[in-house]
Amino acid sequence: MTHSIRTFTLAQRPDLLPAFLNLDIPWPAFIEPNRLLVEWGIHAHAEHQLIVLDGDTPIARASSLPLHWDGNPQTLPSRGWDGVIEQSATDTYSEATLNMLCALEAGIDARHTGRGLSQSVFTALRDHAREAGFEHFIAPVRPSGKTEFPEMPIEDYVERRRDDGQRADNWLRIHERIGGRIIALSHTSMTISAPLDIWRTWTAEPFTTTGLTIVGGGIAPVYANTDLDYAVYIEPNVWVRHRLTDAPAEEGQGS
Ligand SMILES: CC(C)(COP(=O)(O)OP(=O)(O)OC[C@H]1O[C@@H](n2cnc3c(N)ncnc32)[C@H](O)[C@@H]1OP(=O)(O)O)[C@@H](O)C(=O)NCCC(=O)NCCS
Repeated sequence: MTHSIRTFTLAQRPDLLPAFLNLDIPWPAFIEPNRLLVEWGIHAHAEHQLIVLDGDTPIARASSLPLHWDGNPQTLPSRGWDGVIEQSATDTYSEATLNMLCALEAGIDARHTGRGLSQSVFTALRDHAREAGFEHFIAPVRPSGKTEFPEMPIEDYVERRRDDGQRADNWLRIHERIGGRIIALSHTSMTISAPLDIWRTWTAEPFTTTGLTIVGGGIAPVYANTDLDYAVYIEPNVWVRHRLTDAPAEEGQGS
């Protein structure tokens, strides 16, 4: 990052909470802010929420929550991204040992995407996890380029590489470049369900037939049921582990 770019936690700068929340992160409309994260997590764990300023202008944020993990990929939350937030709340209240920091979002304001900021922002969060003394740092990564391949199984998608050997997916590529290794897949990482009228406002689709529908910004199809008047989207994510010590990272097995 250049000298004019500074990173703060919300614990250091609680005055930046409105700016943190109001960044224009380019999420599809159906991925709304998670209420447990917004109304509980970022307050209970303000020290793990990063905001990035360019001069005095907020340009990016990185959100994370702590939880307990025994280091076994099989015991990661089965509900992936959703499950991390839920488990962080229960682990926090049960006073479990919070030995893992889990990244939940690295978001660049829409006016500042394409500047190469994402790697710096995620690296800042990883370095924060190290400095805070966590044993583990992990992310249920949303492979953002999969919007172009929503019907491809996640197992096949993560194997795609460019001719130069780097990962084809732009966000997985950044993770691998800074040392992240895939240790598991989550097929049920984020679940969004709503009546069809709401889905029509979120997307350009009419939802007039029962079955799978491809929606803009989705990395998986949406299942709609017109008899029951609902549609549900279940997003797969990729568990990526970033080592916080100098020990060599090993490639894991997808689950
Ligand atoms: C995903 C996101 C963080 C990437 O940030 P960004 O500032 O747009 O990306 P960068 O400029 O840092 O580029 C990162 C890589 O993606 C590539 N890239 C950037 N925009 C791209 C696009 N529209 N399509 C394909 N690749 C793209 C870049 O070339 C770069 O790869 P390289 O270093 O190998 O050349 C940002 O788009 C975002 O906030 N998206 C919404 C939230 C999200 O999905 N976050 C990630 C999951 S939590």
